[in-house]
Amino acid sequence: MDNSDRNRLSVTLVDVAEGKVDEFVALASEFGALLVRKKYGIAEMIRDEAQARRFYSVRRWTDAAAAAACHADPEIRSLTAKLYQMARLTHVVNGARPADPLRLMFDDQRARAEPDRRTGFDRRANDEGRAEGDRRSDHDRRLGPRRLQHRPGEIDLVAAARRAREHADAAFSQVKVGAAIETADGLVVTGCNIENATFGLTTCAERVAMFKALSEGHRMFTRIAIIADAQAPTPPCGACRQILWEFGGNLEVQLANLNGVTGTYQLKDLLPMPFDARHL
Ligand code: THU
Repeated sequence: MDNSDRNRLSVTLVDVAEGKVDEFVALASEFGALLVRKKYGIAEMIRDEAQARRFYSVRRWTDAAAAAACHADPEIRSLTAKLYQMARLTHVVNGARPADPLRLMFDDQRARAEPDRRTGFDRRANDEGRAEGDRRSDHDRRLGPRRLQHRPGEIDLVAAARRAREHADAAFSQVKVGAAIETADGLVVTGCNIENATFGLTTCAERVAMFKALSEGHRMFTRIAIIADAQAPTPPCGACRQILWEFGGNLEVQLANLNGVTGTYQLKDLLPMPFDARHL
């Protein structure tokens, strides 16, 4: 294999909403044809062996520049926007964004930080979600667009948070946290904690997820899952409770560790007597 910029790979896990598979397959083939026609690369949509509405979107880019051009292409962007309406997307491999070896060499602490081997694909296969029938009862259900139903065997919020946790940069505390917020229209936005040498500028996983979601235009949320590798539940810190309350309201908060869900709470119970815009 040569060392050039050619042949970059991206893989995205795609969980399609119920009743949208045909529409999705048509859109995916349109996307694939466009990629070839514009010489960005080759796209393949591979169906999961066991889960009918899960796909792996595998794109082999001509080179890193083609990947960048594709992401900026308005025609591609409009197809991607449609895709986001019918599926949850989780990026698994981004081979078009080169690693930064210099940063690793200079940052001794980060270079020594071992990748977390306990979070492999085999562990992700477990369904950690709540069973049907354990859902909020009618009077407590939120109004708003119908969101993707969580069923056993499907991707769920905890699994998304677990994947996000793998990107945590916790070289100083070693506490890796992942979070996943569900928007009212069924999309999942994830976050992980990011630490830095000053410690004080650390941002928690929950706030990364919430700020990402807000910055992408989402304003209504239903649930958040938070995962850490600790026996006892890892609850959101005070600052995160405040931000989640102000932007997400009385969210359902699902806490998990690597073995599964450790507790489910309502945010109003985690932040009694909140200060918010009503007091301004
Ligand atoms: N942390 C979170 O990301 N979320 C929480 O709810 C609690 C704490 C992070 C912040 C810091 O990087 C590390 O965990 C240790 O405090």
